[in-house]
Amino acid sequence: MAGLARLEYRGYDSAGIAVVTEDQNSLARAKKAGKLAVLAAELKEHPLAPGTVAIGHTRWATHGAPTDENAHPHLAADGRIAIIHNGIIENHAALRSELKAGGVTFASDTDTETAGHLLAAEIDSGLSLAEAMRAVTRRLEGAFTLLAVDAREPHTVVGARRNSPLVVGLGENENFLGSDVIAFIEHTRTALELGQDEVVVITPDAVIVTDADGDEVQREPYSIDWDTTAAQKGGFPTFMDKEIHDQPAAVADTLRGRMDDNGRLMLDAGIIDEGVLNAIDKIVVIACGTAAYAGMVAKYAIEHWCRIPVEVELAHEFRYRDPVVSVKTLVVAISQSGETMDTIMAVRHAQQQGASVIGIVNVQGSTIAREADAVLYTRAGPEIAVASTKAFLAQITAAFLLGLFLSELRGNKYSDEIAEILEELDAMPAKIQWVLDTSEPIREIARSMAGERTVLFLGRHVGFPVALEGALKLKELAYIHAEGFAAGELKHGPIALIEKDLPVFIVLPSPRGRESLHAKVLSSIEEVKARGARILVLAEEGDDEAPLYADHVFYVPEAPVLLAPLLNVVPLQIFACSLAGAKGYDVDQPRNLAKSVTVE
Ligand code: G6P
Repeated sequence: MAGLARLEYRGYDSAGIAVVTEDQNSLARAKKAGKLAVLAAELKEHPLAPGTVAIGHTRWATHGAPTDENAHPHLAADGRIAIIHNGIIENHAALRSELKAGGVTFASDTDTETAGHLLAAEIDSGLSLAEAMRAVTRRLEGAFTLLAVDAREPHTVVGARRNSPLVVGLGENENFLGSDVIAFIEHTRTALELGQDEVVVITPDAVIVTDADGDEVQREPYSIDWDTTAAQKGGFPTFMDKEIHDQPAAVADTLRGRMDDNGRLMLDAGIIDEGVLNAIDKIVVIACGTAAYAGMVAKYAIEHWCRIPVEVELAHEFRYRDPVVSVKTLVVAISQSGETMDTIMAVRHAQQQGASVIGIVNVQGSTIAREADAVLYTRAGPEIAVASTKAFLAQITAAFLLGLFLSELRGNKYSDEIAEILEELDAMPAKIQWVLDTSEPIREIARSMAGERTVLFLGRHVGFPVALEGALKLKELAYIHAEGFAAGELKHGPIALIEKDLPVFIVLPSPRGRESLHAKVLSSIEEVKARGARILVLAEEGDDEAPLYADHVFYVPEAPVLLAPLLNVVPLQIFACSLAGAKGYDVDQPRNLAKSVTVE
C-alpha cells in the first residue's frame, strides 16, 4: 500500500491488490473505485489473508469508467490468475470478440481483462506463467506493462513490458517490480530496467529476465541515489501550496553551478557534439500540458538570443503528422516526469529521423532522461501535486540556460551580454519570493470568486503562454471554464464572449519594455472593459497606468521582458489554488487527472 501511494501520481481513480494466500491455492483480492484511501478503508474492514506474493495497481481510466468492476487486478481462470496492466492494448476489441466467441465471460469493460483471459488459455494449454506471458505479449498491440500471479505458482510474479516502463527492485530474499523505482525505494536502492518486449520472473531469491524468444538477458543493476524526504508537505496544508512556495528554490537550484571554467553550460548527462549544435538550423520543442507552455516561453527567448527558428509543438501532434526533422534539427523534450508517453513517443520518432534530443526533465533516471542524447535536469525536487507549478518555473529556467548556451556557442551573443542575463536570472528567486510574500490580495479575491463560471486570461508575447497556463491551472484545480487568449487575437473572435462582469485577467507587459507592447495590451483592456468585463491586471511595480484601466491590479517586481513569466505566473497559480480551496476541492489530486499520463 505504501508503494501504491507513491505511484498515485500515475492515476488515482481506483486501486486494488491481489495476494496469493499462504494456503497457496487461492487468490485474495480487494479493489475499489476512488483514491487509495478508499481501498485502505476497505482493507481495514476486510483484511486480506496473509500471502506469499502480491500485485497492486492504481488506475487512470482509459477503457471503462472508474468503477469497482473496472479497477485492477482482474481475474481469470476462475479466479486463479490475477493481472494488472498499465498502457493501452490497442487490439483489445478484436481479442475480446475472439475470447467471447470461445465462451469467455468478461467481468469488466477494460482492455486489460483480455490479456488475463489469454494468459489463462495459454496456461491451460500447459505453459508456465512465464511462457504464457511471452505467448500473450506476442498477440498484443499497443503499450503495456503487465504483471500477473497464478495461485499455483505461489512464489512467483511475472512481468512484461512494451512501450511502458517496468523496473525491478533487487532486495535480500525479496524482490520487487514497479512502474517507477519510487514504488519500492524504502526496501531497496538497487534496481534494473527491463528492455522492450522482455519478460521478467521474480521469486524471493531470483530475478530472471528473458527476451521475446525466451533467451535469458543479463541486465546491469544500478543504484538509486536520491531520497524521498523532499516529498513531505513541510508545514503547508497541501503539496500544491508547498510547491508554489518551493519556487524560488526550484529556480535557484536549476541555475546553480551550471557553467564550466570556460563559461560553457554543463549538461547533466550525455553529450551532443558541439559541431552538431553549431550546424542545427531549427529547434523543435515537444511537450504536453504545462511543460508545453514552458516551451512556448522558451521560444521567445531562444529565437531572440540565438536567431534560430523554434517551433513548439504538443508531442502527440508532432508524432503523427510526419514532421520535417533532420540531423540539423535539435529537439528539446520538456517533461517534469520524463514518463509522459506522448512525449516519449515523440522523442523516439525524432531520433529515428536523425535529430538530436535534449531532455529538460525533472525526474532523474526517467525514460526521457535515459533515452535523450543529453539531459538538462530541472532541479525542482519531487513535484507531488498533480497540477504542475514549480516544475514549470524550473523548465523555463532550464530552457533559458539552454538558449544562452547555444547563443554563446554559435556566437550570437558576447560573453558579457550572457553574463548580464545570467545575473538577471540569478535575481529572480528573490523576486518570486516577493510575489509569494505579497500574495494575500490575490488569495482574497480568489476566495470571493468561487461562484464564477468562466474566467478569461489574456496575454501578449511571453504573457500569452502565461495566460494559457493561468487558464489551465484554473481548469485543473477549480473545474471552472477558463481560456487563455493572445491579447491581440481577442478582437478576431473571442471578444464575442465578453459580457457584463465577466472576469478577465490580463498579463500586462512592462511599460519599460518594448513600449508599444504595453500600449497594445492596454488597448485590449479598453476593448474588453468597454464591453462590461471585470478587469484584473497583473502589472509591473511602478506601472501607474494599470490602475486607470483595471478593477483590480496585482503587482510583480520589475524584470526584463523575457524573464517576466517567472513572476507573472505565480499569482495565477495562487489564484487557482485559493479559488479551488474555497470550493473545497482537493488541489493535490484534482478529479480525472493523473500527474503523469503514461498512455498515448
Ligand atoms: C499531465 C499533468 C500536467 C503536466 C503534463 C505533462 O497532464 O497533469 O500537470 O503538465 O502531464 O507532464 P510532464 O511530466 O511530461 O511534464
